[in-house]
Amino acid sequence: MKLVSPRHAIRRCISATTPGSYHEAMRIGVLTGGGDCPGLNAVIRAVVVGGIVHHGDEFVGILDGWHGLIENRTVSLDPDQCRSILTKGGTILGSSRTNPFATDNGAIRLLATVEALGLDAIVAIGGDDTLGAAERLHQQGLPVVGVPKTIDNDLSGTEVTFGFDTAVQIATEAIDRLQTTAESHHRIIVCEVMGRNVGWIAVHAGIAGGAAEILIPEVPFSLDEVCERLLRRHGGNQYFSTVVVAEGAHAIDEVSAATTWNSQGSATADQFGHLRLGGIGAFLAREIEQRTGYECRSTVLGHIQRGGSPTAFDRVLATRFGAAALAAVQDHEFGTMVALQAGAIVRIPLSAAVGRPKQVDPHLYEQVAALYLG
Ligand code: F6P
Repeated sequence: MKLVSPRHAIRRCISATTPGSYHEAMRIGVLTGGGDCPGLNAVIRAVVVGGIVHHGDEFVGILDGWHGLIENRTVSLDPDQCRSILTKGGTILGSSRTNPFATDNGAIRLLATVEALGLDAIVAIGGDDTLGAAERLHQQGLPVVGVPKTIDNDLSGTEVTFGFDTAVQIATEAIDRLQTTAESHHRIIVCEVMGRNVGWIAVHAGIAGGAAEILIPEVPFSLDEVCERLLRRHGGNQYFSTVVVAEGAHAIDEVSAATTWNSQGSATADQFGHLRLGGIGAFLAREIEQRTGYECRSTVLGHIQRGGSPTAFDRVLATRFGAAALAAVQDHEFGTMVALQAGAIVRIPLSAAVGRPKQVDPHLYEQVAALYLG
């Protein structure tokens, strides 16, 4: 089955943005997939309001990511639904980690739903998993444009994903608070942050919060060396420390965090093959206390980093991405993802963005963060 071109009767309307010119109005499906993050609603609002008010497009809201297209679960989407959602966390469309290629006849059912709903295009807002599926579906004929989201900031091809700035802000505020109580009690506090297999949140929040140690998946750590540095630091004039650790960090002699510190009880992987991470913070706190003799506590920030209202930066970035995705749809530039490069929003092939996580810039970690560590 090939869905190669919009199949609808063409409805023409006068564009409000360029008086006198004509645009082909389209029927567009919008979905949000993967872990939610602040700014999803801002993208939905930009796409829907821009499409309806300025181009006469029609929108269908697809519920819970790819799952909604497989099961044909949708809602109507118009400017009324988008009122007051700019500042709201989460996603009004719901989300899931459904992989059409790991679901019985998933891709076939999904493409049939697109046909049945009469959709000319899909705007898929997601991270590596959702957009990886979008790329494969595009190869099977799905007219899709991707928008990069994730607090982890691990999508290639874009300098930053929306959601990341908010997560860093939340983690930084938490570290600031941990510092004051660590100082009062002369303790070491380990703060575990999210990020899956990359350390972007840990490095940014660690630098911003003045952490003594920042441990990330990209650079496996030696527990002996971490403890030595803490002993040295406390042997000087410091009596407290915060250690920021990414949930995916692991020691030099361990292959991955998932095999070592998985305290969240997920023995099985999700449909994209990811194990649930978490637990390294508590492990480190125990080990550091035993090895150094200093009193140690741990805090896991977890989903607090993903919830709530987006920062101003994320609201603006999400709105820019939404406007750019709508323009890509109207230009029929399917199989692309909008991205931020050198301050500008560009279109890149989905294939250039997915499948190889963007790791922490070594310069940022080794030259900038390292200046103040230990
Ligand atoms: O990808 C975003 C993310 O928050 C990761 O940082 C984290 O490992 C994962 O999702 C948690 O997923 P869930 O919400 O399924 O627990």
